[in-house]
Amino acid sequence: MKRYDLRSDTITKPTEEMRKAMYQAEVGDDVYREDPTTTRLEELAAHLSGKEKALFISSGSMGNLISLYLNGGRSNEVLTSSNSHIIHHEVGSIASIAGVLPISIEAPRGILSASQLQGKVKSGAYDMATTTLVSVENTIGGYCYPLENLEGIRDFADTHGLKVHMDGARIFNAQQAMDIPIKTYAKYADTLTFCLSKGLGCPIGSLLCGSEEFINKALTVRKILGGGMRQTGILAAAGLYALEHNVLRLNDDHRRAKTIAKALKECSWAQVDMEGVQTNVIFFTAPGFNANEIISQLAQVGILANNEGPVVRLVTNLDISEQDTVEICSILKAFKPRKN
Ligand SMILES: Cc1ncc(COP(=O)(O)O)c(C=O)c1O
Repeated sequence: MKRYDLRSDTITKPTEEMRKAMYQAEVGDDVYREDPTTTRLEELAAHLSGKEKALFISSGSMGNLISLYLNGGRSNEVLTSSNSHIIHHEVGSIASIAGVLPISIEAPRGILSASQLQGKVKSGAYDMATTTLVSVENTIGGYCYPLENLEGIRDFADTHGLKVHMDGARIFNAQQAMDIPIKTYAKYADTLTFCLSKGLGCPIGSLLCGSEEFINKALTVRKILGGGMRQTGILAAAGLYALEHNVLRLNDDHRRAKTIAKALKECSWAQVDMEGVQTNVIFFTAPGFNANEIISQLAQVGILANNEGPVVRLVTNLDISEQDTVEICSILKAFKPRKN
């Protein structure tokens, strides 16, 4: 039976062309800052994000952690949405390593606005933590941040002397879906992380972007975390390849996600969040069934899904073709969940 892996966009394997680019990469020791391919990638990331400098890091989690370590600071607080990745999927590292306390804010689809931050900033009292940072995630659950929210958050942060970090693991999806360059999103944040290893199809790697002063400090924190790597050009070459070849094709993932969501909408057993499908992520429920029941029954017909709490999640990706999408839709339409 053919399997369609829609658990995440992180499951993709590097293509032949990407592997060739990795094989041919010119390399040096990046801890000595002598890897020319990594330098090229960092310069490109700085240019795309409109920041002074960028740093190649092993993962999105590392980027978030470095930013929170430097911009948050021990015993301080970060304001973030209650469904953010830094709260749920980074093993509490922002607290255990960076020493930052997350203040979790309930927000529709995880999209914060300045009004939700009102009254949450603490400073001054000797027995209280100080609020130093706001962290936003773009996209969050595949949903893109409206610019007016970011503008409001930036103004709020400036008024209260806070920094803003953007976890832009999938910011290129937002760029393509909204036709807003990542530079425009990034101008509302002091620091931005984006991932090469998600929709862009690389095996490893993320970029942390910010001011020159911040990135110079980030280099030291990356080393503290064991993230100083040597001939990283092998990985950076994949990143350069992806930024050149795999950004526009994110539109295919988005179109396929909408097609699959429409097919689910026609299924009497499913309730799908159509409005939420802006990029490559689809959320749905099957009333009367829990997410695990649906996931295990879908696996039996070849569709691999994941869940976020009680909701089933499908993510289109580089390894799901147009033909696969047609087949996935017909499998979903023929599928009937059953009680065991
Ligand atoms: C929104 C978001 N931020 C950060 C990360 C962490 O990235 P990594 O898996 O590279 O640590 C992920 C991973 O899926 C993510 O979805």
